[in-house]
Amino acid sequence: MSVPATGMSPAELQKAARDHLWLHFTRMSGYMDGEIPIIVRGDGCYVEDTNGKRYLDALAGLFAVNIGYGFGEEVGEAAAAQMRELPFYTNWNYAHPRAIELAAEVASLAPGDLNRVFFVSGGSEAVESAWKLARQYYAARGDRQRTQVAERMAAGERIEQYFSTDRRWKAVARRIAYHGTTMGALSINGIAALRAPFEPLVPDVIHVRNTNRYHRPSEETEAEFTAFLLEDLEESILQAGPETIAMVIFEPVQNAGGSYTAPEGYWKGVREICDRYDILLCADEVITGFGRLGAWFASERYDIRPDIITSAKGLSSAHAAIGAVIATDKVMEPFLDGHKMYSHGITFGGHPVMAAIALKNIEIMKREGIVEHVARRQDAFHETLSSLLDLPIVGDLRGTGFFYALELVKDKETRETFSDEECETLLRGFLSPRLFEAGLICRADDRGDPVVQISPPLVAEQQQFDEITSILGEVLSEAWEQIGR
Ligand SMILES: Cc1ncc(COP(=O)(O)O)c(C=O)c1O
Repeated sequence: MSVPATGMSPAELQKAARDHLWLHFTRMSGYMDGEIPIIVRGDGCYVEDTNGKRYLDALAGLFAVNIGYGFGEEVGEAAAAQMRELPFYTNWNYAHPRAIELAAEVASLAPGDLNRVFFVSGGSEAVESAWKLARQYYAARGDRQRTQVAERMAAGERIEQYFSTDRRWKAVARRIAYHGTTMGALSINGIAALRAPFEPLVPDVIHVRNTNRYHRPSEETEAEFTAFLLEDLEESILQAGPETIAMVIFEPVQNAGGSYTAPEGYWKGVREICDRYDILLCADEVITGFGRLGAWFASERYDIRPDIITSAKGLSSAHAAIGAVIATDKVMEPFLDGHKMYSHGITFGGHPVMAAIALKNIEIMKREGIVEHVARRQDAFHETLSSLLDLPIVGDLRGTGFFYALELVKDKETRETFSDEECETLLRGFLSPRLFEAGLICRADDRGDPVVQISPPLVAEQQQFDEITSILGEVLSEAWEQIGR
């Protein structure tokens, strides 16, 4: 039996966990009698529990441990060196070398003129901060325009009409999309069940169609689908009043609902609509940033040209609690005026130890060619997984990079989905525990239609693609038997 690196025995850990630890998004009643899975160590794409059992982590923690579990020692040395040099200093009014170096490094990896980096502690804070930034951007820009107009008038210029655009607050997001749990980020979420317990939420968020194509009419062409989505976006903006909308926030590939990629022409259209109504476009790259789609940022791969990128998880490969809001020169510009500042801050934003860890993570990703590896192997991964489409329960395989989802259906012909009750028995009652028992960590999720999400560390090789496919094949066949088909 494997001995955990703690003073407690496995049995003591179980008891203390049951008595004191509150797990996130977890029905704790389920563990009153059953064992809590306690992970004690990892290597490569694998983790091990207190019983010494190994699991292939096909979820990379939570879409996060991009370099896998094999570089902990090297990253730890960078953290320890930083601890010795300067364990903490803040980014409120002060800078320190690691935050500066990391900001410069992130800016160099981000596409276009996304040159300014504001550090936070994670993805929700990044989304929260992006919305606040977008709101304050218009106010700051409005003040600046007013000053410029006043100066021009004082110089004798006659200005007949002047529209100030200094108060915008609304956000536009997509249905079923997950963007985090703090009140602002939660309000942006398009998942009704997550929102409901906390209503009333932060006003106002407009939710538009996502890019799920599987349940669209089969005769619809890709171009028609794109036009349909863009029309919905533009109409929703017009209805809400474009002059009140600060930000459109979309993931390059939407995770919740199951790796929804966008159809051809979609991003160009979204950018044009944002430009037409002078709205900031934010790409939420909390998952897709730092290599998951075979590019440092998916915004580059899809030529999204966002004004803001939110990022977290892969920035440090989840070896540290750090996220970032990355803004273009245009977004920064009004904040460089006179007394202006972005009125926002978080004690741990840009924490030197977290920054040192993120810098080391990026160094490792570059040295090991991890982003290139994903770009090179993504087709092989897709092809391996596509054998699962032969199973009667698997309706769709979608995604790209190392980021896939299988949609489960009752009937492949009609694409009929499972009822809520069936999802409860199939996903929570059977699939999740059975996959874990079979040594595979991936997520059975029904925030949209029921899907299995597959998102391993970016160091995964063909051996892991095969193993994931083989275990999923067995367990999904059992699931089909279970529901009596
Ligand atoms: C797209 C996206 N945005 C934001 C978040 C929130 O990140 P965090 O859990 O670090 O707060 C997540 C988390 O999964 C996410 O996937």
